[in-house]
Formats: sequence, structure tokens, C-alpha cells
Amino acid sequence: MNEVKKSRSGSAKGFYLAAIGSAFGLGNLWRFPYIVAENGGGAFVLMYLALVFVVGMPFLIGELILGKNTGSAVLPALVRLGAGDPLIRVDVNDRRGTMIMAGFLAITISVLVLAYYTVISGWVLYYLLQFSVGSLSKSGLNPQNALSSLMDNGWLQVLLTFVHFLIVMCVAVKDVEEGVERRVGQAMPIFMILLIILSIKSLSTEGATQALQFFLYPDFSRLSWSSLGRAIGHVCFTLSIGFGTMVSLGSYMGQKVSASSAGFRIAIFDSFASLFAGIMIFPLVFSSSDQFSGPALLFQTIPFLFAKTSNGTTYGITFFLCLYLAALGSSIGILETALANICEFLKMERKKAVIITIAICFVISIIPALSTNALNSITIGGHSTLEAWDGFVVNWLLTLSALIISIVVVRRIDQAVLKADFEDNAKKNSPAMAKIFVHWWFAIRFLAPALCLLGLALQLI
Ligand code: PFF
Repeated sequence: MNEVKKSRSGSAKGFYLAAIGSAFGLGNLWRFPYIVAENGGGAFVLMYLALVFVVGMPFLIGELILGKNTGSAVLPALVRLGAGDPLIRVDVNDRRGTMIMAGFLAITISVLVLAYYTVISGWVLYYLLQFSVGSLSKSGLNPQNALSSLMDNGWLQVLLTFVHFLIVMCVAVKDVEEGVERRVGQAMPIFMILLIILSIKSLSTEGATQALQFFLYPDFSRLSWSSLGRAIGHVCFTLSIGFGTMVSLGSYMGQKVSASSAGFRIAIFDSFASLFAGIMIFPLVFSSSDQFSGPALLFQTIPFLFAKTSNGTTYGITFFLCLYLAALGSSIGILETALANICEFLKMERKKAVIITIAICFVISIIPALSTNALNSITIGGHSTLEAWDGFVVNWLLTLSALIISIVVVRRIDQAVLKADFEDNAKKNSPAMAKIFVHWWFAIRFLAPALCLLGLALQLI
């Protein structure tokens, strides 16, 4: 066991805090509202929630079980199963080559996501600084000006991205003992309470009725052929599936937690967070006469709520501080996933791996950082480079990676090993959990893969 794992294995509470610290992030507050807006509202939300249960939860549980039973990160875990590990299952062919490719796909996704996740984290940092110096208070800077001075200034975005990378690097190099995701996880219940308060405030604005209708009423005519694929991609993104993160976390979870109950709880918490984010953002979209859309949606809307509210600056600082912590926890989670694989599989020293990975990510991140300004003339399918990048990695690569990992779980891990987790859950929680295995087995074997394939195919139309 390497030093990272040693420090992270332990109590059930520690595991949950780390899992929530890594799952809850920009996906809930930044990505979810903007893709709901792009995909027509309520029908997409309903489809997303259904997919959390039939695709997200089964995959999440599968990844946790894979990590728990192999005790390693995704790449070494896949390779071990690819070789037909006798502890797991003996009657399978040697597929090490394919497994190495699958593991590298997961690592590539982590690098590609971290590159733009950091740019958005830089935006959050900018707003945190703006509110901290009081320039977005009632009498101060106009939120719209603040946004355009950020979006129009590519080098400012590169600088903010660099600062975020520096913070991530310092934490990653030093923070072997404690696990920053855990500490971030501790702040997340406070963030949830803040989200609920802000949602209530937002519901008192004039756009609330229209917003609730848009966000909660399912008008299926607004869905497009690609909505299914986008919803599945987002489910994977928000639950951190397909990166290998949940495999790593599973390897630290210890015997006190069963993967099936953890998967269920993480998915429920994460979905509630996203729903509140939507309830908070959409009334602000409908209260304004401006057309808000795209990846800047969160930043176009939420400062207006603070500008209207008494103690808006305090709310603004608290909100962006919590959001920054969430973004930091997730950035570290993504980096740790890549590091766990690189250090374990390539036998590279941790410090060196941190510096090389961050340097590569930083160079790549310059493209999304310039997407709203120097590169804004480049569009792909009508989308900015940032949006096209996010869409390609999440809606295609991530879904594919999650699907491959789930196939490995189904085909390579002995059914008795899988079932044992649900039986353990039944002993610890409720006897009904043992029966859930049949549903999970059906979902991960047939339903979820079929939906993923359909989602990928429909995106081609
Ligand atoms: N689930 C995170 C979010 O919704 O922002 C993104 C993420 C974090 C993915 C950590 C992967 C990871 F390891």
C-alpha cells in the first residue's frame, strides 16, 4: 500500500467525506444548469434523474466494488483483471493489451477534463476576489461588466488558471497525510444549506414561476436526438464515473463501508445538490431581459442575486468561497486519479508525477482559457472551443470509458464477489439490500450498457 492509500483508508466517515468532496463540484453548479438550459429544461431534468438511477448508480457501485476488491487504481486494476486474476475469475482470456488501453483512456479523460475544469475554477476564483474586495456590492461594480472584463481578457484567464494550478500543486505535493477532499467534504453540508437559502431567495424573484415551469415541467418536444447522450455524459461527469476516481476511492474504502450503500448515498446527495442549483439559477435567468446561456450561465446570473439581496457581499463571498473549495476538492480528485495510476503503474515518484501532470494540463488549458476571447472566432458545430471540448470529452469519451469499466466488472469479477457486497450491505443496513443485487445486476449488465450505446448512437444523428 503506498503512502497515499495508507492515509486515506480508514473510517466510513472519512470515505464519505472524500467521496462527496470529489463528486460534488462544478458539475453540479456550473455544468448542470447550463446543459439543462441547452436541452430544453424539465424533460431533460427528468431524464437525467432517471439515468442517475439506471446508469449512474449501477456504474458507480461497479467502480467502487472494482476498487475495493483489487485495492488499486483503475489502470492496474483493469490490467490485473485482464490477466485473468485467479482470485477473481479464472475462466477468461488474457486481455491485458485492451485493458491497458482502457486504463489510458480513463487517464487521458482526467487530463483533458482537468485542463478546462481549472479554467472554470479560475473564473470562480476571480469572482471570489471581486466579492472579497467588495467591487460587486450594490453600489460597486456592475456584475455584467465584471463578467465581460473576465471573458474578454484571455491572459487574465490564463493567469487565474495558473494560480489555481499552483494551489492544486501545492496541496497535491504536500497533502499526503490528510486528504484535502475530506476537508472539502466537511464544508459541503454548509454549502448545501447555503444553496437552499439562496434557492429560496431566488424563488422570490419575478421569474420564479416561469423558471419552475421550465425546470420542472417535462416538455418532451424540447428534447433532441443528442439529449440522451448528453444526459448520460453528465451523469458520469457529476458522479465522477469513467475517470477511475471511484475505483481509487473504492480501493481506500476499507471493509466498514459497502460499495452498494455508498453508491446509493453519493448519488442521492449529488442529485439533490444539482436540483437546488437549478432552482437557484433559473429564476434569475427568467427575471432578466438578457439572453443568458452557455458555459458562463452561472456567472451571468448569480451575481445579480447578490446585487439585489441585503448582505449580498457576504453571501457572495461565502458562495464563491464554498464553490471554490468544491472546485479545488474536485480538481485534486481528478489529479489524484491520474496520479494514482501513473505512480502505481508507471512506478513514477509522486512529486515528479504531480509536476509533469500539472505542466501538461496547464499547457493544454491555454486553449479553453482563450476560448471566450482570442479564440472566439473558432467554433465547432456552433460551439466555442471550451464548450465543444467539454461536450466531446464528457458526452463521448467519458461515457465510453464508464461503459468499458462496467463491462470489465460484469465479465471479469466473479458474481459471488459482487453479490457479497450487497449481502454485507444487507447485514449492516437493511435485509432488503440483498434483494437489490438482482436489479443492480440487470441494470449493469443490460439496461445501462444499452442506454449508453443508444445515447452514443443518437448523438451521431
Ligand atoms: N464530479 C465532479 C463535478 O461534478 O464537478 C467532477 C469530478 C471530480 C470528476 C473529481 C472526477 C473527479 F475525480
